[in-house]
Amino acid sequence: MTLHAQGAGLNPRWCLAQDTIDRQDIERLITWLRTYPRLTKGALTLDFERQWSEWLGRPYSVNCNSGSSANLLMYYALLRSGRLRNTNVIVPSVGWVTSIAPAIQFGFTPIMCEADPDTFGLDLNHLETLLKRHDAHTVLLVQVLGVPHRMHELQQLKDRYGFYLLEDACAAIGAEYQSKKVGTFGDMASFSFYFGHQMSTIEGGMVSTSDKRFAELLLMLRSHGWSKDLDSVSHQELVSAYQIDDFHSPFVFYEPGFNVRSTDLNAFLGIEQLKKLDRMTGRRQVNHDLYLQKLGTRFYTQRPPKDSKVASISFGLLGESPEQRRRIVRALVAEGIETRIFSAGNLGLHPFWVNRYGKASFPVADRVHHCGFFLPNHALMNEHDVTQISRVVMEAA
Ligand SMILES: Cc1ncc(COP(=O)(O)O)c(C=O)c1O
Repeated sequence: MTLHAQGAGLNPRWCLAQDTIDRQDIERLITWLRTYPRLTKGALTLDFERQWSEWLGRPYSVNCNSGSSANLLMYYALLRSGRLRNTNVIVPSVGWVTSIAPAIQFGFTPIMCEADPDTFGLDLNHLETLLKRHDAHTVLLVQVLGVPHRMHELQQLKDRYGFYLLEDACAAIGAEYQSKKVGTFGDMASFSFYFGHQMSTIEGGMVSTSDKRFAELLLMLRSHGWSKDLDSVSHQELVSAYQIDDFHSPFVFYEPGFNVRSTDLNAFLGIEQLKKLDRMTGRRQVNHDLYLQKLGTRFYTQRPPKDSKVASISFGLLGESPEQRRRIVRALVAEGIETRIFSAGNLGLHPFWVNRYGKASFPVADRVHHCGFFLPNHALMNEHDVTQISRVVMEAA
């Protein structure tokens, strides 16, 4: 299989990721463009949001231009809701910088949590200790690489301590825990449609929620802070409450908003991607299971909870030592197999964190940082590819 390289500086035989937007998607897009549609956010975006909500099983979804923007919107909607008793937020050590960056930008106090030894999500014992110590009213969970976290136990903590859960499912679209889709557990959940993720709209993101008030805040914050994207009843309520005349009403700003909209062009792609999403994630799960079978007894890797469906983007492995990782990485590169560090390793070791709060070092997260690496997993790979790649890893180890 020859695949284009993703920043590897060579021409790998196996790329970490492949575009889920295929030739047929492009042909359909061209046909649609030939109708000279309006391209900015419009009817198709609404349709995409509706279809996404249906697929996910949550009533409200707000499309935006990236997973990072989705996280930004979640944090700010929560802050603007006026429901928080404090702005302490527990954040994961294994995840992505923009799972945490909005907390810093909006003046929250982030407290970092160790990674769970099985799923690499939040370590639940450490989380409970932090909840007791800091009384944090917000917790951000990353569903790491499409391996669902132990949501039953997390829900028990949520019930006991009463925090708001922001669920970053940006890299976990289609994963399930006890037959419930990842992204339906948090008070709000974010998704990314970037290249290499389970589905792509070139760039793109979504926030989903079951809470109408959050949904309305998300809609306003996404587009400048105006109310015209709300349903007509909610829009009229604001117009009446503030005694706005008809001429002004489309351009009154109720919130200090952003512009993180996406476009109907991206929505067109999203609707097409949704049609094949379950097939693509199914393939990723088969690959993931085979990797686990071939490498899972020899290496430390994520252990999915019982009754879960994994929808992994890349298969993450931890070497026994940085030296063993170096050896494996060398062998992978020599065989044309693209690799990289495990997500961002431990975010508590990155300058954006260390410069503000000092190093946040934890046994599991540090091991992910120093020994972790990725192997390719995408919907165009099959058993043969996984077998070949696993053989290279085993031989190098
Ligand atoms: C856990 C997580 N959150 C957020 C993001 C950001 O998504 P985007 O690249 O669409 O901004 C990513 C990106 O990979 C991610 O892995």
